[in-house]
Amino acid sequence: MRVAMIGTGYVGLVSGACFSDFGHTVVCVDKNASKIERLERGEIPIYEPGLEKLVAKNVDAGRLSFTQSLADAVPEADAVFIAVGTPSRRGDGHADLSYVYAATEEIAAAINGYTVVVTKSTVPVGTGSEVEAIIKKVRPDFLPGTHFSVASNPEFLREGAAIDDFKRPDRVVVGAEDDKAREVMSELYRPLFINETPIVFTNRTTSELIKYAANAFLATKITFINEIADLCEKVGANVQQVAKGIGLDGRIGKKFLHAGPGYGGSCFPKDTLALVRTAQDHDSPVRIVEAVVDINKKRKEGMVDRVAAALGGSLSGKTVAVLGLTFKPNTDDMRDSPSLDLVPGLIAAGATVRAHDPEGMGEAKHLLPEAVNYCDGPYHASEGADAVVILTEWESYRALDLDRVKGLLNQPVFVDLRNVYDSATMTAKGFVYSSIGRP
Ligand code: UDX
Repeated sequence: MRVAMIGTGYVGLVSGACFSDFGHTVVCVDKNASKIERLERGEIPIYEPGLEKLVAKNVDAGRLSFTQSLADAVPEADAVFIAVGTPSRRGDGHADLSYVYAATEEIAAAINGYTVVVTKSTVPVGTGSEVEAIIKKVRPDFLPGTHFSVASNPEFLREGAAIDDFKRPDRVVVGAEDDKAREVMSELYRPLFINETPIVFTNRTTSELIKYAANAFLATKITFINEIADLCEKVGANVQQVAKGIGLDGRIGKKFLHAGPGYGGSCFPKDTLALVRTAQDHDSPVRIVEAVVDINKKRKEGMVDRVAAALGGSLSGKTVAVLGLTFKPNTDDMRDSPSLDLVPGLIAAGATVRAHDPEGMGEAKHLLPEAVNYCDGPYHASEGADAVVILTEWESYRALDLDRVKGLLNQPVFVDLRNVYDSATMTAKGFVYSSIGRP
């Protein structure tokens, strides 16, 4: 099959590279000239394990290429994926669909022969119908189901594990309104049927809602365990054991029950908010998700108080080493990261911040206050600090030489917001140790 992938962000680039690795011929399109030039040179604009190799392999095999010209890529394609950004619209939290609709107009003008236009970006309920209406407006002679189809195929990949998630997904969801579209989509994902990946066919609207419901459910699960963690702290229970004790019940499941500083990233914050707005617009509020959005926001803002409490109440004149700035490990993505609340909060309260992140410091420099001192590693960051805070659970922070860290600190205060270490060990080593939801 021939695929055009519009947008070379996280989802577009990973999906394009993986489809080409399945054996399809893929052209990735982006308006950003320098991004395309970099990709053509083999430079990957994001940090994602394995992606550079996968891209190089498929470019060499002649199955993957990059272009700025949508008009060149679309006419040849059997399927055109829209994988452009859908950021939160300023002011109201709705998803901003201007990039999706602009791409649709260009695609409509370039279609040649039966083509399935697929929304891969996370788009609100009803977007597929709007995409179809735009194509019909641009090409009034085109009939849906005959000359083109519009399908929804949400992507569930996680940053840092994106290639594996794409190639070994729990399921593929396809929302389509006709058999022709279902056939093309089945053919595209055929390599996954060997390992018996279920493909869930629905109508377009259902597929669009599945993506939001999945992300909102996972965000709810995290928020639930975060609140249980707070309760654990009050009553002297251990949240990790609670998570294990409930998670072994197959109806609950053990994943996404790690208590922490609140969820961040490019999807959960934006998608929970967009679902809240869609539901309100349809006079069918999802009050659980409204609460999740609110609780998570306050949780991230509240992390600064935890650090202050560990330091005896005041941050004024203190130096804090923050380890980890990205919203999770194995990515350089800072979007809605808890660090965007914690670091400015520490500085506003009078602290000096020494920070380290294995991949995120380049991006962090644009987003965090100028006063942050960026360090070469966790030990450098700990030098002369009054407390060390683990904010992102990077592998390289999991086996720190704790005696060395202690020797570098002014005071042995260790705030572990990801529960990487064990309370008994840390206390035995002489740290004043605090973590999330554990005695
Ligand atoms: C998420 C979804 O998992 C994915 O299916 C969707 O396509 C995009 O959004 P991603 O944002 O890459 O993926 O990261 P994920 O691993 O889901 O983590 C999101 C946030 O939740 C991170 O800030 C992470 O630290 C936090 N989290 C996750 C927890 O605090 N506890 C958990 O148990 C799991």
